[in-house]
Amino acid sequence: MNPEIVQNSTSDEAFAARAIELARCAVGLVSPNPLVGCVVVSASGSIIGEGTYLKDNVTHAEVIALEEAGEKARGGTVFVSLEPHDHHGKTPPCTEALINAGIKRVVCPIEDPNPLVSGKGFERLRNAGIEVVTGILAEEASKLNEKFITWHKKGRPFVHLKLAMSLDGRISLGGSVSTALSGELGRKRVHDIRHEHDAILIGGNTVVVDNPSLTDRSGKMRRRPLVRIVLDNRLQTTLDSTIVTSVNASPTLVFTNSRDAAKVDAIRARDVDVIESELGGRDLPGVLEELRIREIQSVLVEGGTEVAGAFVDARLVDKVTFLISPIVIGGRNAPHAIGGMGASELMDALRLRDIEITRHGDDIEVTGYPMGENE
Ligand SMILES: NC(=O)c1ccc[n+]([C@@H]2O[C@H](COP(=O)([O-])OP(=O)(O)OC[C@H]3O[C@@H](n4cnc5c(N)ncnc54)[C@H](OP(=O)(O)O)[C@@H]3O)[C@@H](O)[C@H]2O)c1
Repeated sequence: MNPEIVQNSTSDEAFAARAIELARCAVGLVSPNPLVGCVVVSASGSIIGEGTYLKDNVTHAEVIALEEAGEKARGGTVFVSLEPHDHHGKTPPCTEALINAGIKRVVCPIEDPNPLVSGKGFERLRNAGIEVVTGILAEEASKLNEKFITWHKKGRPFVHLKLAMSLDGRISLGGSVSTALSGELGRKRVHDIRHEHDAILIGGNTVVVDNPSLTDRSGKMRRRPLVRIVLDNRLQTTLDSTIVTSVNASPTLVFTNSRDAAKVDAIRARDVDVIESELGGRDLPGVLEELRIREIQSVLVEGGTEVAGAFVDARLVDKVTFLISPIVIGGRNAPHAIGGMGASELMDALRLRDIEITRHGDDIEVTGYPMGENE
């Protein structure tokens, strides 16, 4: 192969990786918009401008990077993590900014998944005589914006199922008592995962057993508070549970079909949003639709056994993370990670692809994507 081409593709990859890295700086700060990072490289091959999109600052990553580069951008290459938009929204089209800056080449891994704009940005750039290169680090760019992509492609929030468990697949001790299984680094990791999401969801029994606060304690800034959701048809959530008493810090939604109007009113009086429907929390597509309406783009399902099983049975899971601690609980009545109906044939089991295994102290994180989903 021509060594020049090899060198070009490696530096393309390095600059494309930098654009993705810049985009990632805004995790927690842009939803429901996408994460976008941009690098401007001069004709001589050095970085002359960088930008990250931060929703509330409005200016797009491409414009920030082009402004930094100034006149030196002329004849240069722009690396951007998601297709530049070509429509007049709150800001003028980024395609126009790229054309006006005299950019010669745009390297961008993936199209915008929004069907209203998808492909249009690339088309506009090509029509203006700009070379457009796609596909470099496409997998990384898709993972970066997996929540935004699912939101547009499936018309519902991205569902990430996360459970902490023992080596023998139990999520608490016998008799279902509140148990923190993960070590310090594992728990820190959980907060980083929470930070990536718009909402966190549990079942009514977990409220009773664990009385969790379900907050993002990653220490990182977030644009919108993490919304806490409980599926609770019997309305086991009591007025003194932490997710009710701390509702001013983080909103709480309860899905129920309880006919106990006095209980519903009492919880509502504490500013908890109670969403009533015929099936309540049992209608998972209905729950996700309600979250979509509220612009909740991603939801982290944190258990317990029955709620996790219901999401798996319904195949409403886009990503799975198990945080496995090196302990063996044993016994007959310690809750398993996943309940529900389960699979009676191996071919019906949820099989994961693109597995990543990471250590957090003594805990092992296994993350993967259900086969057939988002492939
Ligand atoms: N290690 C971990 O990561 C972790 C995380 C969370 C919990 N846990 C543990 O898990 C245990 C609790 O698990 P669990 O299975 O008893 O309870 P759960 O999954 O927290 O809650 C189950 C209850 O949720 C309600 N629900 C509403 N909609 C539902 C739906 N679509 N599917 C299923 N349930 C729905 C049902 O009660 P209604 O009929 O009243 O609606 C059901 O009985 C506790 O021991 C807790 O400590 C561990």
